Amino acid sequence: MSLPEVLTRPLTLPVLASPLFISSGPELVAAQCQAGVIGSFPALNARPVSLLDDWLAQLREENAAYAAAHPDEIVAPFAVNQIVHRTNDRLDQDMALVVKHEVPVVITSLGAREEIYDAVHSYGGIVLHDVIDNRFAHKAIEKGADGLIAVAAGAGGHAGTHSPLALIREIRDWFDGPLALSGAIGHGRSILAAQAMGADLAYIGSAWLTTPEANNSADYKQMILESGADDIVYSNLFTGVHGNYLRGSIVAAGLDPTDLPVSDPSKMNFGSGGNTKAKAWKDIWGSGQGIGPLTESLPVKDLVAKWKREYDEARSDLLSTLGV
Ligand SMILES: Cc1cc2nc3c(=O)[nH]c(=O)nc-3n(C[C@H](O)[C@H](O)[C@H](O)COP(=O)(O)O)c2cc1C
Repeated sequence: MSLPEVLTRPLTLPVLASPLFISSGPELVAAQCQAGVIGSFPALNARPVSLLDDWLAQLREENAAYAAAHPDEIVAPFAVNQIVHRTNDRLDQDMALVVKHEVPVVITSLGAREEIYDAVHSYGGIVLHDVIDNRFAHKAIEKGADGLIAVAAGAGGHAGTHSPLALIREIRDWFDGPLALSGAIGHGRSILAAQAMGADLAYIGSAWLTTPEANNSADYKQMILESGADDIVYSNLFTGVHGNYLRGSIVAAGLDPTDLPVSDPSKMNFGSGGNTKAKAWKDIWGSGQGIGPLTESLPVKDLVAKWKREYDEARSDLLSTLGV
């Protein structure tokens, strides 16, 4: 199957920047698009709802102005993430704005709903739905999603437990549409690995939290730069859904990361609290396992340029290993 037109436009790297609750706003997304990778943010980050209207207009204008001033550079499209969950009471209002601004790519999480897909298709947009297993992948495509984001073990925020090798293979066995791989990608070589596995795009989240353009605290940025895979704790305590978090932030909240209680999933409270006094995302910091290669805070453009060098080097190493 050929990819939808919006995903075939040239990119600096085959990367879709994932939405980051609280941390991704117009500054980060504009920098991602202007570095030539698809940027994204959760609609819920724009508060109140009217701010979403402003952000969407601003992003379109800024990217168009940048493209006009830099005709030789790649400016990528952007995506908006909708949390399709009963706790999201803004979904209808946010979707109306997505339709008004004809957002080219919509990322849905935590629920697959036909009316969302229909709304995006009404103006020619596409929807990528994120899934942690093959069963949810089937459901999303049956309901009308155009593509999938396979969220494998080691991803930041809410994450699955499947190996990326297993998950991509199972999905690719029956689905040849747009597919992104999410989880622990923080190096150019890993972007090439995602393609080698069968994904069209690498879906990257935690790495952006080290950039000056991301809307997270300096302490959070520094903890990511100093941490590696050993410092990531997988727990469902904070939102009711299993996810990966920085050990240091759990300790700072007065909890023992080696002895966290298991939470009751029916008490899920995504994004506005959690099952402890410490608030998920604000006090308990999400991060995936792929942060080891990130040792300095680079502006988005420089981070993408670094990944591009690593990617090109990995590609030529691979071709020479294969004797091509
Ligand atoms: C701090 C943080 C916040 C996140 N917020 C969201 C969100 O609002 N919506 C969403 O669909 N995914 C969210 N994610 C998950 C990402 O979309 C993505 O699956 C993940 O970051 C990819 O793994 P990586 O962090 O190892 O690159 C978040 C991840 C992190 C680390």
